[in-house]
This record gives sequence, structure tokens and C-alpha cells, in this order.
Amino acid sequence: MSLHFEKTSIKSLELSNRSVRSATWTGLGDEKGYVTDQAVSFYGELGSGEIGLIVTGYQYVMTNGIQLPYMIGNYEDGQIDGLSRLAEIVHNRGGRIIPQIVHAGARANVKLFREGDEVWGPSAIADPVTGKKPKEVSRSEIHQLLEAYAAAALRSKKAGFDGVQLHAAHGYGINQFLSPVWNKRSDSYGGSISNRYRFLAEVLEAVRAAVGEDFPVVIKLAAHDFVENGLVPEEAVQVSRRLADDGIDAIEVSAGSAASPKDLAPIRKVKKVPEDEGYFLEFASYVKESVEVPVIAVGGFRSLGTVQAALSDGKADYTAMSRPFIREPHLIKRWKNGDTSPALCISCGGCFETGLEGKGISCKIERQLKKKQEKKQR
Ligand SMILES: Cc1cc2nc3c(=O)[nH]c(=O)nc-3n(C[C@H](O)[C@H](O)[C@H](O)COP(=O)(O)O)c2cc1C
Ligand code: SF4
Repeated sequence: MSLHFEKTSIKSLELSNRSVRSATWTGLGDEKGYVTDQAVSFYGELGSGEIGLIVTGYQYVMTNGIQLPYMIGNYEDGQIDGLSRLAEIVHNRGGRIIPQIVHAGARANVKLFREGDEVWGPSAIADPVTGKKPKEVSRSEIHQLLEAYAAAALRSKKAGFDGVQLHAAHGYGINQFLSPVWNKRSDSYGGSISNRYRFLAEVLEAVRAAVGEDFPVVIKLAAHDFVENGLVPEEAVQVSRRLADDGIDAIEVSAGSAASPKDLAPIRKVKKVPEDEGYFLEFASYVKESVEVPVIAVGGFRSLGTVQAALSDGKADYTAMSRPFIREPHLIKRWKNGDTSPALCISCGGCFETGLEGKGISCKIERQLKKKQEKKQR
């Protein structure tokens, strides 16, 4: 049995193989962030694809932490029933699933705000992407944020998910606290990397207190901001060591954000296989050398060969993919059953289109192929 298809576990969570579906916004929440029937079917399809671990798209923990439209929310208890439908359908099909929770911080989308919401960030510095200047959060607002993360994690547990992932990458709230570009605070939350880590340490502490020792708490962490004076890999490794000491159960390593140059963004073109694959693998490997907890590599994986090599070279314990599963939710099953040709995804970015229209993400190329076929049949 190859390393990739080996059974493993993260804490007590048993996984059928070393593949992860990286968090992917589906655009399938309603206006209040409640789970729709279409979202349940979408996750059901993923659930029958034999992926080791599915991470849901990012779920906002406070209404002023929202980012993309039709994002699923995890900010009030009324949402538990809908969230439990996602967990249930994946479990019924033999999969494992955890939600990713986020507060977008300074990068929140004011167009989607409710009355009274204001933009919060670590410092009152205009976000380079939205141009909005957030309110620098006070101690009591930091406390509200910690409570919101903890409550979201507890809701996730009550909904029957198998763990929870904190989103600390891609330029959102936790990443902003870690980064010297967004975080200019002069109190104990700003300055040295140890101070910039404080907010995340407190989020983890609050989440752990809410869900208990046995519930897996994992993180998607920025290894590099790719902006001038931003977070750098050496600091991300220090953060990883602290996270490991503070009880994180796995670290998924990503980098960049919408503020970084396009060719250094978290979602990049993968034109050539294998040359362009695994574009953050060296960061994952750097983190793996420094901590004992499992490391998940993400970013441009497309072929079983590259995935296997990342594992057998000891650079990562798991590999995660996002776009390939939009085109082929059953990619892992296909590979397992012997068709090991690379993922069909050509990383054109067309999957966002229907998501932004409120119809849920879908593969543009598959849509075009279907249209052509229908035309032929007419
Ligand atoms: C449609 C879409 C939605 C995404 N939503 C999220 C998200 O909710 N949270 C997150 O951490 N990353 C998100 N990402 C980034 C992916 O998880 C992943 O880090 C990135 O696409 C690189 O992996 P890939 O080359 O396998 O697609 C999204 C990517 C796409 C294409
Ligand atoms: S639309 Fe493009 S990027 Fe999205 S899944 Fe299809 S081929 Fe991949």
C-alpha cells in the first residue's frame, strides 16, 4: 500500500488516507449564512469521493467577519441544525469533515454587513485589498472575538463535525494579527513575533477550553505574506513551534493573500505538471522539520506522483487540494481505483463565477463540455 493510501489519524480522528480537501468557499449559504439543501448535496458528493479529510469552506464567526457572498456562517446557534446536515451526509458516505472558521478582520466585506457592523482589525490601517480602514480592536473587542471563535468551535462539535480548523492564512483576521504589515499595535498584541502570536494563542486557548482535549483543532497557517515587511517563513516556523507547544493537532501550510502579487498568491496557475505543482511544499517542509505535529501541504497538487513524493520525501504528512475536487469530487477514488492520470483541473479560476452569482461554485470547463454535448444531442 502506498503512503498516500495508508490509514492514519490526527489525534483520535481516524482517516482512510492522507488526502485532504482544503477549505473551499462553495457560495452555498443563504443570505444569513444558513446551510442550503444545495450545500448538503455538494458535500454529499465530496463525501462519497474517498477523500481522507474534508475541510469545509470558511465559515464566519461574527457577522462583521464575513468576506465572500453566500458564505456559510457559524455565528449563532440556529445554524447548528444546518451544519449538522453537512457532517451527517459526509459521515453517511464514509468521509470525515471539519469546518474552517474565520473572522476576515480588516478584509471583511462591508457590502455584506448587517446594520451596526463595523470593520475590525488589529490596527487602523487601510486594507490594501478593500481600501477600508478598520477600527483598531480594543481589549474588550478582542475578548468578543475570542468568544466568537470558541462558540463557533463548540457549535461545530455539537453539529457532529470531526474537529475544527482555524483560518490563520490568506490575509484574514488571525493572519493580520501575526503580520507586521497589518499589526502596528503598541500593546502586548503587537511588536515582536511573540506578541503578534498572542491573539492566536488566546484563540486556540479559548477554542480548546470550549471543545475539550480530545477534539482535533487544526490550523491553516500563513508561512509568508509576500508583501514588503510582511510575515516571513522564519516567523511562521516560530509560530508553528508555539502552536505545537500550545496543543494544535495539525498545521496546514499556505501563504500569500489577495494583497500579494498574482504569481505569489495562494491560488496560482498550475500550467505544467509536475513542474508547477506543490508551490508551497518547501514551506510545509520547513515547518515539518521544526515541529512534531502532522503537517499538511497545500497549493497546486495535481498528480499522484507529486503527492506521493511529498510524503515519501518526508516533506509533509498529508497533501491537500482545492480546485481539483471542484472538477472531480471523486478524484481520490479514481486514483485509488487505478486511473492515476493527473487531476483534470486546468486552474483557470472559472469556478468562482457561478459561486458569485449565488448558484454555488462549479467547474467552468465541465459546464462548457456539458453545453457542447447538449448541443450535439439536439
Ligand atoms: C473557489 C475557491 C474557494 C476557496 N475558499 C477557501 C476558503 O474558504 N478557505 C481557505 O483557506 N482557502 C480557500 N481557497 C484556497 C484553497 O483552499 C487552496 O489553498 C488553494 O486553492 C490552492 O490549492 P489548489 O491548487 O489545490 O486549488 C479557495 C480556493 C478556491 C479556488
Ligand atoms: S473552473 Fe477551472 S479552476 Fe475551477 S475546477 Fe474547473 S478547471 Fe479547475
